[in-house]
Amino acid sequence: MEVVILSGITPLASLAADAIGALLRRKPDAVLGLAAGSSPLPVYEELALRHGRDGLDFSQVRGFALDEYVGLPPGHPASYREVIRREFTERLNISPANVHGPDGAAADIPAACQAYEDAIRAAGGVDLQLLGIGTDGHIGFNEPCSSLASRTRIKTLVEQTRRDNARFFGSPAEVPHHVLTQGLGTILAARHVILLAAGAQKARAVRDLVEGPVAAICPASVLQLHPHATILVDEAAASSLRLADYYRHSFDNKPAWQGL
Ligand code: F6R
Repeated sequence: MEVVILSGITPLASLAADAIGALLRRKPDAVLGLAAGSSPLPVYEELALRHGRDGLDFSQVRGFALDEYVGLPPGHPASYREVIRREFTERLNISPANVHGPDGAAADIPAACQAYEDAIRAAGGVDLQLLGIGTDGHIGFNEPCSSLASRTRIKTLVEQTRRDNARFFGSPAEVPHHVLTQGLGTILAARHVILLAAGAQKARAVRDLVEGPVAAICPASVLQLHPHATILVDEAAASSLRLADYYRHSFDNKPAWQGL
């Protein structure tokens, strides 16, 4: 696990965009795992900039969203399908047909979850997965005590998560109780994961993710088992890390050829 601590979300987003750019140059039809929420938005912003300015090409890219609310009407502005469409798909030269998400409106939820797993596998698996982290340590919508081996399925949101996400809805009561999410096992199968966290409200979750035991009480801690996990945090989110100086020292002395 590599932990990179920088002054703010903008330089962190730039690093994540560097990694995506390098991947697309190496593999133009790469499969990207896409998170919603606030944390990845500066990365999408940076990718849109590089697409317009440098011609970063998404024409062959495939994308798979991490999660989706259950029961929102089609086109609801807070649905993750809409967020990904607005923030990512519409700003790049990626075919909308190549961007997928779990079907939160499916009549048969277990079948939709299995179909999503099958679609990811048929695409060859995720090359690079972007992640945020919840204040309770969730990744995707794998809330505390999710199975560390879980695959895409329905989950019930913790009330704290519903409160955290109320800012995207008209009122807290409108936040659905249920979601479909890639499982922790699904996320672990991505070849590279990049998690972004900014702000003091994420400090405890980041500490538990990086330096706590691997335990389902902090679902993100499962990333300690991933062979290529990159944790990008600003100073506030890093403020509870015991080995922060070591992480800074390692990054400052990293061989230039290595990338993320
Ligand atoms: C979003 C997702 C969630 C968020 C997390 C943090 O697709 O899977 O795990 O990444 O809730 O949300 P923000 O970034 O809004 O703080």
